[in-house]
Amino acid sequence: MPESKRKDSEPVLHSSASSSKIDWWTMFTDPKFLASPYAELNRIREIAPIQKDPVSGVYFVLGHPEFRRMATAPEMGRDTRLWSNGWSSPENSRNDPLSYELFSTFQPQMTNANPPDHRRMRDVYEKAFRQTDLQVFRPMIEEECRALAEAVPGDTPLDFMEAVANPLARNVSRKAFQIPVELDEDLTRWVAALSLVGNIMMSADQKRDALTALTEFRCYLRERIATGIDDPGDGFVGLTMTALADGVMDEDEGLNNLVTLISGGIAIATLVGNGLLALLRHPDQFEKLRQHRELLRPAIEEMLRYEPGGSFILRVAIEDYRCGEVLIPAGSLAIGLVAATGRDPRTFEQPDRFEIARKANPHIVFGAGAHICIGKALVRMTAMALFETLMDRFERIDLAGDPVWWTHRSDQHGLHTLPVKLGNAR
Ligand code: HEM
Repeated sequence: MPESKRKDSEPVLHSSASSSKIDWWTMFTDPKFLASPYAELNRIREIAPIQKDPVSGVYFVLGHPEFRRMATAPEMGRDTRLWSNGWSSPENSRNDPLSYELFSTFQPQMTNANPPDHRRMRDVYEKAFRQTDLQVFRPMIEEECRALAEAVPGDTPLDFMEAVANPLARNVSRKAFQIPVELDEDLTRWVAALSLVGNIMMSADQKRDALTALTEFRCYLRERIATGIDDPGDGFVGLTMTALADGVMDEDEGLNNLVTLISGGIAIATLVGNGLLALLRHPDQFEKLRQHRELLRPAIEEMLRYEPGGSFILRVAIEDYRCGEVLIPAGSLAIGLVAATGRDPRTFEQPDRFEIARKANPHIVFGAGAHICIGKALVRMTAMALFETLMDRFERIDLAGDPVWWTHRSDQHGLHTLPVKLGNAR
């Protein structure tokens, strides 16, 4: 998000969205809010489910039904170049050339594309990410979970993020994309730098690091494609090669899509970290899960809803869009606040309760509509495998200290450290 977001150069257009006096950008940088945003978001959502920040002109969507409608509306797209006050506006691109270079280099890819380009690119990868096609990775994922669970020292306090969650996310992603282990250090650095793109607190140094990471990452992928070690049409890189050869995507699109797909894997760590913490803070629910393993699938959906790792989902109005009482003018940025939508009492019964057997759980943590997360089946499969492995191997899993939440970003909600003790190994 460009630093110039605070300049409200937009004319005030007609809108009946509540323009309450909330200092959104201060709130998004408050460590207390970042550790637990729910009470504050519940309070704000009760004022109005869609609110316009008069300072930045951004529309914040806190209501579940409102965001679900908006996320699937053809008037609302994902191409941030259409955001009239965004990084590519003539004024912002002049004042902040570094952001412009970073965002414009990374722009061509399905994540940021509107129809018809979005479908053209997504079709290249869609089938490979379906649950049935992903089964090919199941043995690798189960082996990773087993190896990590066996490597952790039992009955000793350890950081779950460092020992299990982060390596699991890294290894699954690296292996699914057949990236050699020698590149692990580079890959970790590239993904860490690029994962900050979209974070409002991104400093100039972080933007420069992200640009360097993007250049190096694309260079590796370009060379890999040129050496022809992948079979065309086989695996994610092979699918990209075929799409390039057939003229379905150009080189920038192909490289950026691969960068995003490979980097996306790191989000697995936030799900298993946040999810385990939710279980540890609700021992009755953890015990219920141990007694009823068939509840693991709904339990993972509840982890996603209750303590979501992604906080913002973006849309940019292609044309004027009316959502209930609110008119969102063309060129506006709207941000769905995921943690608020998941606690909306109009959609979820007793939304502040963590209930692994929750029946109706239509959360929108993976987004909705054409852009719904392409990696969601991979994430669910990996989380299922890990929790199964942990419960099989350890009779006890306990908190061993206070968890520390990230405070350096507002677009994602993840754990820096999660001290646990894994006991009574079987
Ligand atoms: C818990 C983990 C994850 C969460 C919470 C998550 C969440 C999301 C969300 C909210 C979106 C935007 C949806 C929208 O705009 O409506 C998205 C899109 C996307 N995700 Fe994920 N994601 C996760 C893991 C992954 C993984 C593991 C991958 C890659 C293997 C991935 C790849 C992508 C891609 C490529 C898109 C863009 C899809 C498109 O625009 O068509 N994600 N994800």
